[in-house]
Amino acid sequence: MPTALITGITGQDGSYLTEFLLQQGYRVVGMVRRASTHNYERIQHLLDKITIVQGDLHDQGSLLSLLEEYKPDEVYNLAAQSFVPTSWSQPALTGEVTALGVTRMLEAIRYVNPKIRFYQASSSEMFGKALEVPQRETTPFYPRSPYGVAKVYGHWITVNYRESFGLFAVSGILFNHESPRRGLEFVTRKVSDGVARIKLGLANELRLGNLEARRDWGFAGDYVRAMWLMLQQERPEDFVVGTGETHSVRELCELAFGHVGLDYRDYVVQDERLYRPAEVDLLIADPSKARARLGWEPTVSFPELVRMMVDADLERWKAKIASGQLVR
Ligand code: NAP
Ligand code: GDD
Repeated sequence: MPTALITGITGQDGSYLTEFLLQQGYRVVGMVRRASTHNYERIQHLLDKITIVQGDLHDQGSLLSLLEEYKPDEVYNLAAQSFVPTSWSQPALTGEVTALGVTRMLEAIRYVNPKIRFYQASSSEMFGKALEVPQRETTPFYPRSPYGVAKVYGHWITVNYRESFGLFAVSGILFNHESPRRGLEFVTRKVSDGVARIKLGLANELRLGNLEARRDWGFAGDYVRAMWLMLQQERPEDFVVGTGETHSVRELCELAFGHVGLDYRDYVVQDERLYRPAEVDLLIADPSKARARLGWEPTVSFPELVRMMVDADLERWKAKIASGQLVR
């Protein structure tokens, strides 16, 4: 039974990756950082099947001892400060975790067992002010946020440890992927949650920033399969993963409100305070390498994804109302 260590197991992708690896027959060890209350909402249903251990990407010693004790065959480094706006208000912390944290994990692998296969969660945010459309593995990076800058560091240190020390280390350059488990601050979930609350009479407007930004949005459950496939290849290589389609935040609103019979123009308020100091205007993947070499294809279309997220938030709010937790 192979063992996988997942950092960031409490996050959106960590929860889907855990489900996927358990189905593949892995023993899953999940690293969580110490907190005064547990944050296991997304992995609650998996807790009896996995091992939770404490560690932090800030702390080199914790990474070394986890690798020594649990002897993973594969490490999936999903942990990060992943919200782009926070990277402007906490740029140094973002660099510590999202950039230097990658080096700490690579160092731990190098010292404990250089045969461990390593996946780094890189991001299409690295393309930023995109120098090529669509974006592929060879497109130069032009990050537009401290988060994007930190991810560029994480990408290159992964490539560097592969080339310097012969590690099986790969960088998966993933475009935006969403689900009903997405954090509430990201735009797809903010919209699906807002639509549900408006439909149920719990809110009467939704404040958003730039409606013209375009993203290549897919379903997170599909993307964790690509992470695993990258570590099963004969040679370590980097891959772009996305759908090859792009949609604006405005189209997202149109679809999400339309799904419950509402017109987004009656509820969405554009708020300049939610604009970013520097925006990424257009992201669209060229996933042809992943398709050809990994045999990877997305299975959920953009309209299906939006409907799935709105329906899940409607159910969640209806259940709260039914249980008497909320009165309209
Ligand atoms: P997420 O939901 O924000 O999860 C981030 C995870 O990192 C959480 O489990 C968090 O723990 C953990 N974490 C943060 N700081 C840590 C630290 N110092 N030490 C240990 N763990 C720490 O992110 P996600 O959407 O699942 O994304 C997973 C990874 O893929 C991230 O690296 C993200 O940057 C990258 N990525 C995401 C996308 C996307 O569209 N989702 C696209 C490209 C790349 P807590 O629960 O304790 O906060
Ligand atoms: N969050 C948010 N909130 N975004 C908004 C809003 C709003 O109220 N209004 C408009 N937007 C626009 C943002 O300006 C951005 O252009 C777009 O919606 C998407 O924002 P997010 O959903 O916050 O995601 P992101 O693209 O910045 O970053 C996500 O995807 C990256 C991959 O490209 C995160 O998951 C990153 O961790 C990930 O690397």
